[in-house]
Amino acid sequence: MTDTKILAVICRKGGVGKTMLATHLAVAAQNLGLITAVLDLDPQANSAMWGDNRGSDAQPAVVAAQANRLPVFIKQAQEQDADLLILDTPPHADTTATAAAQAADLLLIPTRPSGPDLDALPASIHLARTSGKPFFVVLNAAPVQGSEVNDATHGLEAEGIEVSPVVLHHRKAFSSHWQQGMTAEEADPDGKAAAEIRALMLWLAERLGLMQPERQSHLKIA
Ligand SMILES: Nc1ncnc2c1ncn2[C@@H]1O[C@H](COP(=O)(O)OP(=O)(O)O)[C@@H](O)[C@H]1O
Ligand SMILES: [Mg+2]
Repeated sequence: MTDTKILAVICRKGGVGKTMLATHLAVAAQNLGLITAVLDLDPQANSAMWGDNRGSDAQPAVVAAQANRLPVFIKQAQEQDADLLILDTPPHADTTATAAAQAADLLLIPTRPSGPDLDALPASIHLARTSGKPFFVVLNAAPVQGSEVNDATHGLEAEGIEVSPVVLHHRKAFSSHWQQGMTAEEADPDGKAAAEIRALMLWLAERLGLMQPERQSHLKIA
């Protein structure tokens, strides 16, 4: 039985990239050789539908779930030696995101680096702090040019909030392969979006202790 690591993608605001990150990170983790599954806790079931687009036997497994069944799925993931479980969560203020945070080893909070996303961030930071779990912000859909990334990073760090060193920029490739159930990394492995998501997943894997030598026995040789 594996000590499955759990990453929860949370944000009280919709449209910030939770589902994009959950699905893209899951494929990036699989490509690192980590056995990965996505639990979609959002009743909108966007991750689950993306999984449907991939086909029933495709990896990573994507399962629509409800928060009160989290312990069942976590146990299954452990029994099946999953390395990583990624929780996609809804934005609304019910107990789902809180339950996901409580189950998680690490919380990832995506936000655009400016505008309404940033204004709405305190509710998500509050949820993360209340959970007592380590958390960090990922700047997503960032403009390629301009001072937004630096300004947001400095502002957040001044409040003691950790910001991921990897920034995801606004790139069409993160959304344009959705209908085929593909990620940017799968559709265009040499593209900039692919490089960004790989770098973020590598950083996360190290944070989660997934790159330790005993874990690497799971790594498949390509
Ligand atoms: N970095 C990005 N570049 C371009 N489009 C993005 C990026 N991140 C997210 N999107 C797109 O923005 C929309 C909202 O993202 P989504 O992951 O569904 O947000 P959430 O799950 O937080 O509601 C989707 O169409 C998604 O493909
Ligand atoms: Mg979503």
